[in-house]
Amino acid sequence: MTESVFLAGDENWWRQAVVYQVYPRSFKDSNGDGLGDVKGITSKVDYIAELGVDAIWLSPFYPSALADGGYDVADYRDVDPKLGTLADFDDMIQAYHAKGIRVFADVVPNHSSDLHVWFQEALAAEPGSAARDRYIFRDGKGAHGELPPNDWPSHFGPTSWTRTTTADGTPGQWYLHLFAPEQPDFNWDNPEVIEDFKKTLRFWSDRGVDGFRIDVAHALKKDMSEPYPTIVDYDPKHIPLDGSHHLFDREELVEVYRGWREIFNSYNPPRVAVAEAWVPAERRYRYASPETLGQSFNFDLLAAPWSAKKFKKTIEFNLKLSEKSGSSSTWVLSNHDVVRHASRYGLPKKTNYDKWLVTDGTSPELDRELGLSRARAATMLLLALPGSTYMYQGEELGLFEVADLPGEVLQDPIWLRDGKTRKGRDGCRVPLPWEKTGSSFGFGSASAHLPQPSWFAGFSVEFEEVQEDSTLKLYRAALALRKQLLSTETLEWVTSPRKVVHFKRANGWHNITNFGKKPVALPEGTVQLTSAPLVDGKLPGNATAWITV
Ligand code: NOJ
Repeated sequence: MTESVFLAGDENWWRQAVVYQVYPRSFKDSNGDGLGDVKGITSKVDYIAELGVDAIWLSPFYPSALADGGYDVADYRDVDPKLGTLADFDDMIQAYHAKGIRVFADVVPNHSSDLHVWFQEALAAEPGSAARDRYIFRDGKGAHGELPPNDWPSHFGPTSWTRTTTADGTPGQWYLHLFAPEQPDFNWDNPEVIEDFKKTLRFWSDRGVDGFRIDVAHALKKDMSEPYPTIVDYDPKHIPLDGSHHLFDREELVEVYRGWREIFNSYNPPRVAVAEAWVPAERRYRYASPETLGQSFNFDLLAAPWSAKKFKKTIEFNLKLSEKSGSSSTWVLSNHDVVRHASRYGLPKKTNYDKWLVTDGTSPELDRELGLSRARAATMLLLALPGSTYMYQGEELGLFEVADLPGEVLQDPIWLRDGKTRKGRDGCRVPLPWEKTGSSFGFGSASAHLPQPSWFAGFSVEFEEVQEDSTLKLYRAALALRKQLLSTETLEWVTSPRKVVHFKRANGWHNITNFGKKPVALPEGTVQLTSAPLVDGKLPGNATAWITV
């Protein structure tokens, strides 16, 4: 590997970076098998560079049977042969680094795939063996061990325990999986597990990976002692603030991440990380501290309704939290786990998205125009905030959720494991439309692994490239301007009407977002960009303006 694969520079580059999430299997298919791949990602380096983001984050690209879209990892130090090779990966890093774009990998430490060699060894080994100790195996309850050890649910369905079958065909022990049965949880009290993940972090860092997104970062350490408490759901609201929950956010987790920090800091510039930790906001600092992972996702705006009051409160609260952790905040509106924000904002407040998806997106009816105007306004607002922004592939095209995927094509374990009552997350994972026509709108030469709707033509890159007011053009313009306007990590609120969020950065960059319907007057200054055309010089409803004064 050549030195040029590493990207040098300011070690604080991440504090206000814009990171673009690539969901590899749905980004670009280079070999016509209907699945996106690593060469596909490399082929789009110019597109990403023109978009103007600082980094890309790749959702898992490791060997996987895709029981959970790749979050079931069979080998942490390889590339899925369906997606390419390690050499393709090296080429990809080189191509992105050559354009100054950094690359994050997704680390999935809570669970592996059931096809991981360690889990296969554990299944073949005896209860109580060293091989079983890398995972969480327990005897069942009941006279013959026929009942699961406890009643804990899985995130995807009724139970987090699956019973094994021994070599002679008789039922054996049970193992814990907080997600699908194909995702057995590791035992993080086992030193081999701890060492192996350090090896993984070094492996990818040595290959030039600049940062890591840590999956389910709050769940690694568990108290598996009996008596087991009853746990009915995994809502972060029910996680106590003292680290005493048996499964999540335990005090001793910090030790694991301190060990990781040593590895990150042994590189120059230090590797960075962002935790996906579903914990009460007050506890996020433990993951975002410079001694642990350095950043932790703040999903609060993603969860907030379209309301000036809620947005303002959420922003204030999170800026305070980042003062406490010493990290910058991380703003997110969409990712591969949630209904796309252009759809969320076009649905009535309090819509139950699971129910909406079951109606194929017909009830309640989606107001596309409203949803897209708000989505564009919200993105501009996010980009004007101090801190970093994480965006999800396709949002730059203004894509809506594909809500009418039929049951037969769904891949999400939520659908399969929960009695086919919840469609899950496939609607935001439909492969990107690059061109107006073709069997998969330019995604690849074959049809895509999830069917694309006909309306994708009007949201394709090719289509939006030539539309002056397209969402793609807005993202490019906003990202380019942000680079010029970026200022210290502070903001000052400016007094404004109730339905308006108005703040300015230290250099006189104002963001004005109108959450209401009535147009509002803008302050004196130079209008740099608006998410919608001004009406008689005023900012219309559901729109954002950037002004420099
Ligand atoms: C969070 C990931 O974002 C999600 O897609 C996945 O299903 C779970 N973690 C389990 O790995």
